[in-house]
This record gives sequence, structure tokens and C-alpha cells, in this order.
Amino acid sequence: MRGFFILKSYYNLKTFHDLSQKLQNMSVHKEFKRITTHALLEMKQAGEKIAMLTAYDFSMAKIIDDAGIDIILVGDSASNVMAGHETTLPITLDQMIYHAQSVIRAIKRCFVVVDLPFGSYQGNSLEALAASIRIMKESGAHAVKLEGGSEVRESVERILSAGIPVMGHLGLTPQSIYKFGTYTVRAKEEEEAQKLIADAKLLEQLGCFALVLEKIPAELAKKVSAALHIPIIGIGAGPHVDGQVLVMHDMLGINSEFKPRFLRKYADLYPIIKEAVQHYVGDVKSQDFPNDKEQY
Ligand code: KIV
Repeated sequence: MRGFFILKSYYNLKTFHDLSQKLQNMSVHKEFKRITTHALLEMKQAGEKIAMLTAYDFSMAKIIDDAGIDIILVGDSASNVMAGHETTLPITLDQMIYHAQSVIRAIKRCFVVVDLPFGSYQGNSLEALAASIRIMKESGAHAVKLEGGSEVRESVERILSAGIPVMGHLGLTPQSIYKFGTYTVRAKEEEEAQKLIADAKLLEQLGCFALVLEKIPAELAKKVSAALHIPIIGIGAGPHVDGQVLVMHDMLGINSEFKPRFLRKYADLYPIIKEAVQHYVGDVKSQDFPNDKEQY
């Protein structure tokens, strides 16, 4: 038993040592008190990688912000990981605003981007602007994100004209899943790759402050990142981009069934939470909890 504890403390010390080494090696060129679109651009120019994660609620956003994340994305992946839907299509604007409000209450430093949900910007640029204004006004978020290139040009222009920063999203765009039919890698063929490059250039030219590239070949993402001045954030797009984004539930191992090649799991919380709950259930059933000290 004692050996176990010695081993455990050694392991903790080693992990702590590895982590501090990594933090020392990290190329952070400048400390930013608050992350802004300008700070993100400076990071790209200085070669400092941008770290982005999704969050949908107060408690997790507080931890993630405190841990030094640069961008929180209130993603419409909330439709999957929070609400249990198969796709991102069902989530509503009201629900996105609710998640964004919870995240905004928690953060002190990071930049918060909110996904415009499916149906709120594709049909009509005035509706796109109205949805974006609701997100900004009612949640206090800092920017919106939408999927697509030339097809959503008018919406992008209209939202930008109101002074609202826009992040683009190309490659695998989950709101179009029924058009693609699968979640496989996008833009492997020349024609689709050329369209993606043209869309990326268009979004930069319109005034988007950053782009997400999802599940595309690393070489293509490298090309886009080199051709554009704005930061390119990748998910399954390889290392030659300006930053990375992951869905929080995937990287913490809460969503244990999702195992794409690009995902690195930084924790395996599903079994840990399950075991803790099983322990609690056992303690309640056996009347071990609460004990004399755990009552008034
Ligand atoms: O909704 C989301 O989580 C996203 C990321 C996958 C980029 O759009």
C-alpha cells in the first residue's frame, strides 16, 4: 500500500515536472490580459499558437479560462454533447444564447465566440444580422462563427457591417452533414480543395478575423494558413495552422464513444466520474453516507 502511495507521489511529481517543462518551452511571446481579435492577429504574426476549446456552461468555462485558454467556442456541438442530438441541426438560437450567457459569466481573460445555429443565417442576411445582434446583446459574447464560404457571403458582409467580428468555418461543416452524407475528411480532391482556398481568401477579404478549418488534409491547411494573414484554427487539419480547437467533452474523455484519429484525449473522465458515482450510490445504500461529521 505504502509503495503505491510513493509511486503515486512520484507519478504526480513527474507529471508536474513534465507540465512545468512544457509550459517553460511554450513560445508565449507576450502576456495578454484580455484576448481580443487584435491579440489573436498578433499571436499569428509572432508565431504563437492559439489554443481554443469549446465550453457551454459556467463551471467548465471558469476552469478553462483559468487554465489559460485563448478562445472559448460556444459551439453548436452543444446540440450533440449537451443535448444528446445526433447532429448540430436541432439546436435553437435561444438555446445557443443560454449557453453563451453561462460561459460569459465565468470568463475573465479569453475571447468568446458563439456559433450561429443552423437556419439562423443561411436564408437571409437580415435574419443573420438579427440573430448575431441577439447573441451579442443578450449574452455579451465577443464574436459569432458561421459555416460556409461564397454561399453565405451576404450574411457575412451584413454581420460585419454592424461591427460584429465573424469567424468563418470551412472544410467539414457539420451543419451540412445531410449534404455530405458522412463525417469523412473533406477537400481531398483538387476541385474541392481549390474551392476551399478561394472561400478562405474571400472570407479574409470580407473581413473575417479568423477561420476554423475542420478535417481537411494537413498540406491543404498549411497552404491556407500561409496564404492568409488572419489566424487559421484547425481541428483535424494538422499542425501547420495558427491554432487548434477541440470539443471539450472529447478531449476530456467524457464523450467516450467519439474516437477520430485527430483527437488527443487529455483525460479519461467517463470511467472516473462513473466510479465516483458508483461509490456514492454504494455509500448511500449502505448508509455509510452521511456519517456523524457530515450532518448538523
Ligand atoms: O461546434 C463546434 O464545436 C465546432 C468545432 C468543432 C470547431 O464548430
